[in-house]
Amino acid sequence: MDYQVIVLAAGLGKRMQMEKNKQFLHLDDKPLVIHTLQVFEQDPWCANIYLVVNPKERGEMEMLIKQYHFSKITAFILGGRERQDSVYNGLRSCQDDQVVLIHDGARPFVEKNDIHQLVECVVEKKAGLLAVPVTDTIKKKDEDYLTTLNRKTLWAAQTPQGFQPSLIKQAHEQARNEGYLGTDDACLVERLGYPVEVVHGSYNNFKLTTPEDIKKAESILQKKKEEEGL
Ligand code: CTP
Ligand code: MG
Repeated sequence: MDYQVIVLAAGLGKRMQMEKNKQFLHLDDKPLVIHTLQVFEQDPWCANIYLVVNPKERGEMEMLIKQYHFSKITAFILGGRERQDSVYNGLRSCQDDQVVLIHDGARPFVEKNDIHQLVECVVEKKAGLLAVPVTDTIKKKDEDYLTTLNRKTLWAAQTPQGFQPSLIKQAHEQARNEGYLGTDDACLVERLGYPVEVVHGSYNNFKLTTPEDIKKAESILQKKKEEEGL
C-alpha cells in the first residue's frame, strides 16, 4: 500500500544545545536525519519522501543526502518559522491520491510495522497517528485547583501522523486562515470535528529533544545492533 512521507528537518534544534541543527547530530556512524530517512528509504510501501529543510542549511543538507544515495527523496522543500509552517510547505508539494504521512526528522526509531499499521488505518479512516499510553500520572493545574487526569484515557502523541491529503490540507488552510497554531497535525484535524484514530505505537519511537536523549538513542541503537548480530 503506497504512501508518501513529509520528513521535517527544518527546525533549529535549540533545546539540544549544539551549535547546529540536531538533525546533523552523529548517532553511531551517521547523522540523526539519515537514520530517520533510511527507515522510509528501506520501506517498500514508501513511494516518495519530501524532505523539509531549513533554507540556511539547504546546501549542507543536499550534500549530506548525496553521500547516502537515496532514491526516494523527490524534493527538498524549504521550511518555515514554525513546525506547522514547515508542514504546510510540504503539503503543497505532495500528491492528492496517496496517503500522506508527516514525520519528525528527530524520530529515528519508528518501526516499519507500526508505519504499515498506521497506513492501513488511514486508508480506511482518513486520519490517524501513532501514540503510546502515558505512563506518568498527569496533573492539571487551573489557578488554585489541581486535578488528576484519568490515565486510562491519555495517549502521548508521536509521529508519523497520517492523513488523506485533502483532509489535512483543508485542516492546515483553516488553521492558517484563523491564525491557529497547534502542537501537532492531528490537532488541526480534530478541530474540524473530524475523528482521528490512534494506532498503538512503540516507546522507542521517541523524539530527540534535549542532550539527555542522546544516551537513550545510543542505547537503543546498541540493542538493535546486538539483535541484528544474533
Ligand atoms: N521542524 C521543522 N520546522 C520548524 C520547526 C521544527 O521542520 N520550523 C521539525 C524539526 O526539525 C523536528 C520536528 O519538526 O524534526 C520536531 O520539532 P522539534 O523537536 O521541536 O525540533 P526543533 O524545533 O528543531 O527543536 P527546538 O524546538 O528545540 O528548537
Ligand atoms: Mg521546535
